[in-house]
Amino acid sequence: MRVATLLALLGCLLSCGEANSPAPTTAAMSASLAGAPAETIWRGQCVACHGSSGEGNRALEAPALTQLSSAYLSRQLTHFVSGVRGAHPDDAAGKRMALSVASLTPEDIAGLATFLSTELPGTRPTTSLKGDAARGEDYYTNLCSACHGGNALGNDLLGAPALAGVSDWYLLSAYQGFLDGLRGQHPDDTYGAQMARLAPALPNSDHLRDVIAFINTLPPQRP
Ligand code: HEC
Ligand code: HEC
Repeated sequence: MRVATLLALLGCLLSCGEANSPAPTTAAMSASLAGAPAETIWRGQCVACHGSSGEGNRALEAPALTQLSSAYLSRQLTHFVSGVRGAHPDDAAGKRMALSVASLTPEDIAGLATFLSTELPGTRPTTSLKGDAARGEDYYTNLCSACHGGNALGNDLLGAPALAGVSDWYLLSAYQGFLDGLRGQHPDDTYGAQMARLAPALPNSDHLRDVIAFINTLPPQRP
């Protein structure tokens, strides 16, 4: 291990314990590993919330990251760092995430996006929501598939992430975030704005649960 990395880790050990928030978020933590190899940043600065295999942690509202493309990961990380995502005063989860990555450089982000999209094992999350998947399929086909793909594997050309293999509780909260104006409202968030404009098309939250129940039936890209 490089001396600089060792020192950085030591710095984190010393300063990370001082945080008084329940989640392991500290700006010091994110400052200390900037410039390290992607896997070092991942282990030192991300797994505490996202899990050692990137499987996510519901109690911390941290989603699984195992199905996301490099392009989508890179854009989201850049948006958290620049305040395009996670800056709304009511977006507590987004704010925790933004604080945790505040000091990543563009090079750190590029390295993490490649590492996460190629090195994380695929996981299929357990499902927690109930809905009418057959009815959800109709809505999905008519309202979502044009961008997210018929099998919900995403479409980078349209900026639309994979939804298959993503934890259902996060699909619900992310969608709600677009509906509530917590996400997709920043003037520089072109892709988020597209999703925010579409979100009200589902008549109500029952229909959203139905759509998510249908997405739960679709196999993820990386099983
Ligand atoms: C303090 C806990 C915490 C830490 C540490 C943390 N995250 Fe997050 N992360 C979250 C939460 C909470 C969200 C969900 C935000 C939301 O609901 O909008 C999130 C969201 C994300 C997303 C967006 C996923 C999506 O589907 O849009 C990515 C990508 C991500 N994190 C990557 C990382 C990386 C890489 C690191 C380390 C450099 C990291 N996170 C560190 C809590 C954390
Ligand atoms: C016009 C294209 C378009 C349509 C139609 C569309 N989406 Fe999206 N959706 C997007 C884009 C683009 C994003 C990424 C936004 C960003 O970069 O923050 C997104 C993001 C999402 C997210 C957040 C995923 C994450 O990892 O944070 C969810 C959930 C979602 N869409 C669900 C749906 C559902 C359900 C439907 C159908 C009811 C739908 N979308 C229809 C374009 C679309």
